[in-house]
Amino acid sequence: MPEPIPYLDLRAQIQPLRAEIDAAIARTIDHTSFCLGPDVAQFEKDFAKFCGAEHCVAFNSGTSALHVALMLLGVGTGDEVVTTPFTFVATSWAISYVGAKPVYVDIDDTTFNLNPKLIEKAITPRTKAILPVHLYGQPFDVDAIQEICRRHRLPLLEDACQSHGAKWQGKTIGTFGEISCYSFYPGKNLGAFGEGGALVTNNAEFAKRARSLREHGSTVRYYHDEVGFNYRMEGIQGAVLGIKLKHLEKWTRERQRVAKRYAELLAGTPLQLPREAAGAESVWHLYVVRHPLRDELKKYLDANGVGCALHYPLPLHLQKCYASLGHKAGDFPVAEKAASECLSLPIYAELTDAQIQRVAQVVKEFFGK
Ligand SMILES: Cc1ncc(COP(=O)(O)O)c(C=O)c1O
Repeated sequence: MPEPIPYLDLRAQIQPLRAEIDAAIARTIDHTSFCLGPDVAQFEKDFAKFCGAEHCVAFNSGTSALHVALMLLGVGTGDEVVTTPFTFVATSWAISYVGAKPVYVDIDDTTFNLNPKLIEKAITPRTKAILPVHLYGQPFDVDAIQEICRRHRLPLLEDACQSHGAKWQGKTIGTFGEISCYSFYPGKNLGAFGEGGALVTNNAEFAKRARSLREHGSTVRYYHDEVGFNYRMEGIQGAVLGIKLKHLEKWTRERQRVAKRYAELLAGTPLQLPREAAGAESVWHLYVVRHPLRDELKKYLDANGVGCALHYPLPLHLQKCYASLGHKAGDFPVAEKAASECLSLPIYAELTDAQIQRVAQVVKEFFGK
């Protein structure tokens, strides 16, 4: 059998940067700047600039950033937040952490993102924010959702955890809403050597309070203005992310190359291929194809050494943790169908053309059987 193709190959990404990263980590150790510190502060400046935002506040995870973002927007007990059931669960965790209720709205069948046409029906007097996700690297319909937010005077919180540098109508995402949140989990397009996250905003007050909340609710050591958290980014993560950020645009172009090649090679197969919506420029965090025989196809790819994954096999409204919301199968049929048909193929900057061709060949063999 040819060499297996891993679903994700972080070693291939890190190897060429290894000497630079080792030196940066050594400097952090020499300075003993383990929690926040100069490398994190520099990364915050660089990432804010990358997003075209005035402020970036680094966190220990994307989940923490989302939690604090909802606090900054004043969302609390008994409030509702309109969001998507088809995402990683952390989007909803943030809503639960502040004591609010996730109010789900079904997704669009081709982009997997929140369907703006269905949002207004879900808005009630308790709605305090709208929290859509730029899923798989592709921006949601920013214009339509911004318009709804304006009409209902609701803040927009962007979950950009999967979409570093994605563009809507040519502009980098990050400042379309009041706050945007990012994850630097290792497998993300920009990944740390452990956990990491950030929020970006143009609101100086939000940034100031976010800095306090992530550090035990304090701006002066051992004086605590409000109940806060230990949500600080580690110094080593700031050092690693600072180096990796310099390569992100190049890596994104490579991901776009892979997506384009898949589109060419898989055209004509029975798969439904992912597409960019008008106005959206995806950073292709994931390449998600669809087919009703997804489970069989996954088994075939696994058996033939092609790594693949499911994002996501069960929508949030049907998860055990949210049983108390009282949803049942059929409530969000588009998300449910997507969950049963989606399959993520390998996509990363280092994937060679020969590897892409092999993935396509194995897919074709499956359908030719
Ligand atoms: C859409 C989405 N939201 C939130 C998160 C949470 O980020 P983290 O894992 O850094 O807490 C992730 C990533 O895991 C994600 O993909």
